[in-house]
Amino acid sequence: MAEQHNEVAIREPVAEESTADAVVLEAAGLTKHFPVRKRGRQLLTQGRRSVRAVDDVDLTLRRGRVTALVGESGSGKSTVARLLAQLYPRTAGEILLHGEPVTVKGGSAFRAYCRRVQMIFQDPFASLNPVHTVRYHLTRALKIHGRAGRGAEELERALHELLTRVQLTPPERFVDKFPHELSGGQRQRVAIARALGADPEALLADEPVSMLDVSIRLGVLNLLRDLKQRLHLAILYITHDIASARYFADDTLVMYAGRMVEGGDSETVTQQPAHPYTRLLIDSAPDPDRLEPDGNAEPAPETGSGEPPSLIAPPSGCRFHPRCPVAMERCRTELPPRFEVAGPAGHWAACWLYEAAR
Ligand SMILES: Nc1ncnc2c1ncn2[C@@H]1O[C@H](COP(=O)(O)OP(=O)(O)OP(=O)(O)O)[C@@H](O)[C@H]1O
Ligand SMILES: [Mg+2]
Repeated sequence: MAEQHNEVAIREPVAEESTADAVVLEAAGLTKHFPVRKRGRQLLTQGRRSVRAVDDVDLTLRRGRVTALVGESGSGKSTVARLLAQLYPRTAGEILLHGEPVTVKGGSAFRAYCRRVQMIFQDPFASLNPVHTVRYHLTRALKIHGRAGRGAEELERALHELLTRVQLTPPERFVDKFPHELSGGQRQRVAIARALGADPEALLADEPVSMLDVSIRLGVLNLLRDLKQRLHLAILYITHDIASARYFADDTLVMYAGRMVEGGDSETVTQQPAHPYTRLLIDSAPDPDRLEPDGNAEPAPETGSGEPPSLIAPPSGCRFHPRCPVAMERCRTELPPRFEVAGPAGHWAACWLYEAAR
């Protein structure tokens, strides 16, 4: 489908179509274990140790929708994005692009995949080369993906369109700047423009605003939302901040210690969280709606405590059970599958509390 997009101009906004919710990218049983080097006495033991960063993750990115992936540090969010971008080989599982299984091992297949699935990183300063201008970065992206047009005039037009699309206007003011001459928000916009240079169908945004000043975060999130609406991009939005998922994402997935624990539409997941871990995440995020009449925040309810578990020897059963305030005996031994939660359709939680609701 997208292979046919070879024109220089960036896709124009198209009217809402019946395919608006078409699945673009899917992962099924996605798993990544990083081998750990043995040291000291461990050399005498048998068997290989590994960090079980991502285990059996299913997710679906749809055209024209933002899916938030939320979880605390070390839960495996970036690893999921890197697996989807084919930056790591996976231990197990499948990735499907428009229903077709994909495995790329570099070369032209990797370039073709990258054209359709682009990644945006947390730190725009690190992802842009400080010795090159905006023009260089964007021209390179356009050329790699065969979208630089014929001749200088067409290239200039394509550059201006990219900058305009990320609201860096007038484009002439930005095109010959170096990364250090731009603000953090402007740099992230250049990184987004570079990703758009490939004319992708899916954007994997790994904490795209967490390095930015709070005052400019909203502008960049609104830009991503605008791209979703105009270009019908399927966007994965990775964040620590579940409150921003409610504001910005259509769907929300919650990850804990390498596993997905809850998913559904963002409003339901954030307003009626089902999994005890999601409740803990929400209760620990400041929320102005929870302010009491005297202006003070309500005391946080008792939600369990503790540290994230080791991913080398993760807890048996439900990985959250050592921190869970409502853990039952079976949670220690049996891994809960996804159970549907009563209420709005599509809301699920991997928690034994919801077994009866099935
Ligand atoms: N290349 C690697 N080699 C070994 N272990 C890794 C590698 N990359 C990630 N890990 C481990 O995998 C786990 C998940 O890491 P990941 O970066 O995906 O988490 P994250 O949810 O993105 O965290 P953060 O919110 O801090 O960015 C961590 O325990 C991390 O130490
Ligand atoms: Mg990360």
